[in-house]
Amino acid sequence: MNPTPSSRRAVLKGAALAGAASSGLLLPEWALAQSGKIRVGLMLPYSGAFAPLGVAIENGVRMAINEQGGKLGGREIEWFKVDDESDPSKGVENATKLVQRDKVDVLIGTVHSGVQMGIQKVARDSGVLTLIPNAGVHAATRALCAPNVFRTSFSNSQPTLALGEAMVKRGHKKAVWITWKYAAGDEAFEGFKESYTKAGGTIVKELGLPFPNVEFQALLTEIAALKPDAVACFFAGPSGAKFMKDFAAAGLKGKIALYGSGFLTEGVLEAAGPAADGVMTTLHYSDSLDTPRNKAFRLSYAKTFRAQPDVYAVQGYDTGLLLAQGMKAVNGDVNAKPALYKAMEAAVIDSPRGKWTMSKSHNPVQDIYLRVAEKGENKVIGVAAKALADPGTGCRMG
Ligand code: PHB
Repeated sequence: MNPTPSSRRAVLKGAALAGAASSGLLLPEWALAQSGKIRVGLMLPYSGAFAPLGVAIENGVRMAINEQGGKLGGREIEWFKVDDESDPSKGVENATKLVQRDKVDVLIGTVHSGVQMGIQKVARDSGVLTLIPNAGVHAATRALCAPNVFRTSFSNSQPTLALGEAMVKRGHKKAVWITWKYAAGDEAFEGFKESYTKAGGTIVKELGLPFPNVEFQALLTEIAALKPDAVACFFAGPSGAKFMKDFAAAGLKGKIALYGSGFLTEGVLEAAGPAADGVMTTLHYSDSLDTPRNKAFRLSYAKTFRAQPDVYAVQGYDTGLLLAQGMKAVNGDVNAKPALYKAMEAAVIDSPRGKWTMSKSHNPVQDIYLRVAEKGENKVIGVAAKALADPGTGCRMG
């Protein structure tokens, strides 16, 4: 059979490309954009205080992409990984490794707000598409926002903006706040302070310790002496389990109500045991959300990874969903930036947490749930804030 004119053109184009490649000539932009594998970099904590969070995020990302046939916009994926150790002093260096050495097309990272500031700098300088699967640092979607940076998780004050009112409604009007002293804890406090004082509560003391310290004893002694109605906190990862256990061991459980930004009870309920029972938190996800979407996600995740998913797994999953939607819109051409960003800005993410959309500054607009930890599960009590958006203060998309 004679080749048709269009297939002959395709053959000629292919021959020209092969020739160009073998003679070392530079390939035209259109050919580079859509040929070969797409290079995806994961910059996550695989060691240190947040290691399990990094693993859950990677699991979620891979699960979402595998559900789309393991490709992005029709292209196979080549993965690159860097362990950021949740060490802010190496943030720029680690992100630069992925961008300059590995030449990634997409950077996914990270968990720790301080490390995120390094990624943000590299993302802004290089223009590489960057998805934030956890770190809530305000600047990333406020004053330092960028057209190529999208967050699929939360801003640090989003969960706690819903916490204060829930506490006052339960009659807990005098509280001590305790956290790790770094951006995530400080910005979680901003949300807590606003909501708690607006609802009529009084913060009697702010306590803190440096990340990732877990020497809670002296602070718990101070809390016992202050005798507040409640304690509200931001801690995350296995250290959160230790805080709840130490709180109980210090004799405070049952005397002083314990509340938290919901990360406190994520992924650690087994480790915390009965010390977590009754702890109330606010977060953009709950294990027990009674929707077909959440149930199917939980079942599939548990089967694949032999572990229960938590909020970090959900955020990773949503990162994969957002990336897949964007890449589909441009048929895998990461260089088609205006169309790619437009598709990601307009995406409606059908998440296990419930459907959410992107704010103008590229942060999720989402419901915040009130939950209680009970027998190893974060049970949903209700919606504490509906379609909550971060204000995106100072964000100018360049
Ligand atoms: C952060 O550093 O932004 C951070 C870390 C862990 C969390 C939440 C926020 O669970």
